[in-house]
Amino acid sequence: MRSHYCGQVDETLTGQTVTVAGWVHRRRDHGGVVFVDLRDRDGLLQIVFDPDRADIFAEVERVRSEYVLSVTGTVRTRPAGTANANLKSGQIELLADSLTVLNRSEPLPFQLDEEVREDLRLKYRYLDLRRDVMQARLLLRHRLTRAIRGFLDEARFVDIETPMLTKATPEGARDYLVPSRTHAGAFFALPQSPQIFKQLLMVSGFDRYYQIVRCFRDEDLRADRQPDFTQVDIETSFMTQDQIMGLMEELIRQVFDQVLNVKLPNPFVRMTYAEAMRRYASDKPDLRISLELVDVADLVAGCDFKVFAGPASSEDGRVAALCLPGGADLSRGQIDEYTAFVARYKAKGLAYVKVTDPTLGREGLSSPILKFLSDAAIAGILERTHAKAGDLIFFGADRAKVVNDSMGALRLKLGQDRGLVEAGWRPMWVVDFPMFEYDEDSKRWSAMHHPFTSPVNDDPAALQANPGGAIANAYDMVLNGSEIGGGSVRIFREEMQSTVFSLLGISAEEAQTKFGFLLEALRFGAPPHGGIAFGLDRLAMLMSHADSIREVIAFPKTQTAFCPLTEAPTAVSEQQLKDLHIRLRLPPAVAT
Ligand code: AMO
Ligand code: AMP
Repeated sequence: MRSHYCGQVDETLTGQTVTVAGWVHRRRDHGGVVFVDLRDRDGLLQIVFDPDRADIFAEVERVRSEYVLSVTGTVRTRPAGTANANLKSGQIELLADSLTVLNRSEPLPFQLDEEVREDLRLKYRYLDLRRDVMQARLLLRHRLTRAIRGFLDEARFVDIETPMLTKATPEGARDYLVPSRTHAGAFFALPQSPQIFKQLLMVSGFDRYYQIVRCFRDEDLRADRQPDFTQVDIETSFMTQDQIMGLMEELIRQVFDQVLNVKLPNPFVRMTYAEAMRRYASDKPDLRISLELVDVADLVAGCDFKVFAGPASSEDGRVAALCLPGGADLSRGQIDEYTAFVARYKAKGLAYVKVTDPTLGREGLSSPILKFLSDAAIAGILERTHAKAGDLIFFGADRAKVVNDSMGALRLKLGQDRGLVEAGWRPMWVVDFPMFEYDEDSKRWSAMHHPFTSPVNDDPAALQANPGGAIANAYDMVLNGSEIGGGSVRIFREEMQSTVFSLLGISAEEAQTKFGFLLEALRFGAPPHGGIAFGLDRLAMLMSHADSIREVIAFPKTQTAFCPLTEAPTAVSEQQLKDLHIRLRLPPAVAT
């Protein structure tokens, strides 16, 4: 049906006869002559229909946008002054000899070059994907997966598939369940990750495994989260944490080089979790923004300002200051807006000090809270924040979690609002995560990474004695403030695995029911092993400068986990439910 792609026809083909096929991007009537810009995945080609050819001219007059055509013609140079430097085919045009209308198109629900609401884009995603920006994004994603496979193949990783219909995997989200017809009342869970299977493959001796694999998590969705998303899932045996991290850095460096021609630093910055929280109030710091927090609890512990003094002397409290260079120009209204912004993260307020002249101490500052602070506290705050004339210092005081959530978010917002985000790529590792987090509500420990992560101290008794102080052999790769991958060195002896389960409040019986097969496998010569999983969607999003992973997924779901195109999830027939042994407990309004 064609000899060339539209976007590949250029001046080297001048004088030749070619046949192209594609969609009518634009049709223009120029007093007798009709121009059609025909589009395919490689680009546009201008086609000229001359009235001399009465038969095809009559036909092209009936052609509309997005009709599908096949055209044969002769390539010729465009008349002087009409070249288009933005197109590969911009120097030439095709003079049509014959035209076949392969299919018609109704007018599209939106123009491809107009700004459209996302729900409409998703409902007609197949049309949205005709836009060149979307084509470019999916092609970049393709090049990305190809580069990843290339590197891993070279490094002797074996691509092995693992089941989709399986048992719950503990990555901390809710499971998507699939009812079993053949086992009444029983359910498969879709994998939140292939975590346990890849560990079993290490027990099998595959040594280096990878899979580009779909994972399913029923969790609150955000711009960088989808209910089904793709991981580059990796596991290795007999490698230390440093070796694994080194190899994974190599992977990401090579991929950026091949796909974007970008040279990332070697090695990546490494920062402990504690340092990341202290300086950036985040476990995924965006290093493109240089603003940093400093702790001032010791300076304000005894002060008259209860808001500061309370958290300053409480064990789980934090009082932190964030200096915004040049921030003294913020208006009262703007400060109120930032106060409302941090309130979203449960902050009860946002104290601030404007700095007119730091050398004058108290006299060179203005703030409603100055009267509560001693001269020594003021001097200490100015020194630690390195505040200069014209700066503004924000304060967060509360439980550490609230301060970190709110001040971490404020740091990013100020970076955006004030144009403080540097260009370029700032990859890093966050290491030395705590093993466990204590959840105040449930009064239980939960695994910070997942329950198969090993502690730095390989002694089960020591772990039992002080779970809160244990550090994990876990590592996250962070790029420009986005967690693009996370992994760990695993527990490979049954005793430690059982200890961790019991610390997590999983009884021996429950451990047996849920993970008995893993515990058993650890008894049959499990090698030391560890790995990582990268979020492929997030990588593709960052690499294509998109602001949501939905932009790099062909058929994504909305924030409410709904697919506007297929309208999934949908109700099913009574018979299907019956086959699956399910009776619905609908809310009363529906179950009449
Ligand atoms: P983790 O849960 O950290 O680790 O996931 C690994 C990476 O997957 C990406 N990711 C997501 N991307 C889009 N939507 C989501 N809902 C979503 N959830 C996670 C992130 C994250 O860094 N089994 C372990 C890995 C291991 O230990 O080897 C795991 O799944 O980029
Ligand atoms: P108030 O005494 O509540 O009027 O607060 C005085 C200043 O402290 C105001 O600027 C508040 O925004 C700020 N503030 C109140 N609570 C906090 C808090 N938990 N952390 C930081 N600043 C606060």
